[in-house]
Amino acid sequence: MSNHDDVEKALKSQTLRVCVVGIGRIGLPTALLFAKSGLDTIGVDINESLVQNINSGIYPLKDELGIEEIFNDVIINKKFSATTKIEDAVPNSDLILLSLPTPMDENNIPDYSALRSVATKLSKILSPNSLVIVESTIEPGFIEDEMVSTILKSGRLKIGENFFIGVCPENANPGEILHDFTNLPRLVGGINNHVTKLIKMIYGFVFSVELVEMPDCKTANAVKLTTNVFRDVNIAFVSELSLMFEKLGIDTMKVLDAAKKKYNFQIHYPGAGVGGPCLPINSYQLLNTARRTGVRLNIIESGRQINEKMPEHVIELTLDAFKECNKTIQNNSILILGISYKPDVKDIQLTPAKHIIEKLQKLGANVHIYDPYFSSGQVFGINVEENLDDIISKVDASIIVTGHEEFKKIELSIFNQMKSSILIDTRGIIDPEDAKQAKLIFRGLGRGKL
Ligand SMILES: NC(=O)c1ccc[n+]([C@@H]2O[C@H](COP(=O)([O-])OP(=O)(O)OC[C@H]3O[C@@H](n4cnc5c(N)ncnc54)[C@H](O)[C@@H]3O)[C@@H](O)[C@H]2O)c1
Repeated sequence: MSNHDDVEKALKSQTLRVCVVGIGRIGLPTALLFAKSGLDTIGVDINESLVQNINSGIYPLKDELGIEEIFNDVIINKKFSATTKIEDAVPNSDLILLSLPTPMDENNIPDYSALRSVATKLSKILSPNSLVIVESTIEPGFIEDEMVSTILKSGRLKIGENFFIGVCPENANPGEILHDFTNLPRLVGGINNHVTKLIKMIYGFVFSVELVEMPDCKTANAVKLTTNVFRDVNIAFVSELSLMFEKLGIDTMKVLDAAKKKYNFQIHYPGAGVGGPCLPINSYQLLNTARRTGVRLNIIESGRQINEKMPEHVIELTLDAFKECNKTIQNNSILILGISYKPDVKDIQLTPAKHIIEKLQKLGANVHIYDPYFSSGQVFGINVEENLDDIISKVDASIIVTGHEEFKKIELSIFNQMKSSILIDTRGIIDPEDAKQAKLIFRGLGRGKL
């Protein structure tokens, strides 16, 4: 990796060997695209059953369209395989991509233990002249302040001489990964300019998107966090406004639809809360950076507080609707429509549905779940319903928590089969006028009473 021309030759002759550590939601599709470009690729993961399934040709990401075909292709052509043995895979690779999880703990402190533990291993097993690229979402400075010194600890490697490192933060959206891989510009930043150019050349070989050169790793990671935290904060902004508009009898969806006609307004929607593996964590990552730097990021702090309070508001709307029927939540049945943190994916990481369910149970409700992406088994200790038609007549109320496409197509008359015809829409997908026509007891988050 010390010589640009050698890497170019290795790409053209397809002799560059690639290892992706962490083959989950992001790492697996990334590894598959490297393999599809003709480069021998190995995926490393500590999840034994995932590795076994992949090697048996079982594709794990059923909600990611278009990628299964690539998976089948590269498995049959033996361009890609998986292993749990990092100590075998890494020494035989020239390029090591890290797509490891960067969650947070119960106190909202970012948890970089997977990256730290792999960096410690790399220090011992990395072959001289390898290039490490971190795709995980990390705080600005993490490469420069931590990863480099951990990997150099064994004393075998010298940064910029026989060890190279950089970042290419992943910014694909779950459920749309193939689309985003082929459309979204990517940021590339290296420990020096030579590495930035190398990463650009390698990713240019695999992906046909714009590759934006960053001055260093920390700037690339700052951009990645800024784009996601922008969304978290703006969702908080419209969610807070929607609480006031509700009281004023103003329909927030009408406000937003008209506001977006202005060229410099970027629309975000209010809702039951913000979950997932990115936005909430990314805000806490920047807040952690702020703490380390001795500054305060007041807007991000407030944004988090607002987004974390939204499930509480869903409960208030539900209580209000029950009150209209002279009923209490206690001992009555409520159906949660959608538990994924966002529409049309099977993913409940940090989903607001969990908080809503817990609060309803505390109030004594019998909670049921229907989500087209979870058709069997238990989630949050509740057996999920297989069929909406079978459960709807047994509940008093339904709460749309996730705006899955399927829920947008529901005939509203189905909700009249419920014992109390209460419908709460937290995602702005039901027109309040239609709900009124259907004679439902309706509460729409941010929409005011009709
Ligand atoms: N999912 C997203 O929407 C998304 C989007 C952009 C960026 N990211 C970032 O990408 C990174 C990966 O996220 P993800 O959603 O793919 O996570 P994931 O949990 O789906 O996948 C991570 C994989 O790493 C494996 N793993 C954990 N520790 C390991 C170790 N020590 N050695 C080897 N494998 C290990 C896990 O078993 C898992 O399969 C995170 O930093 C995340 O913030 C995620």
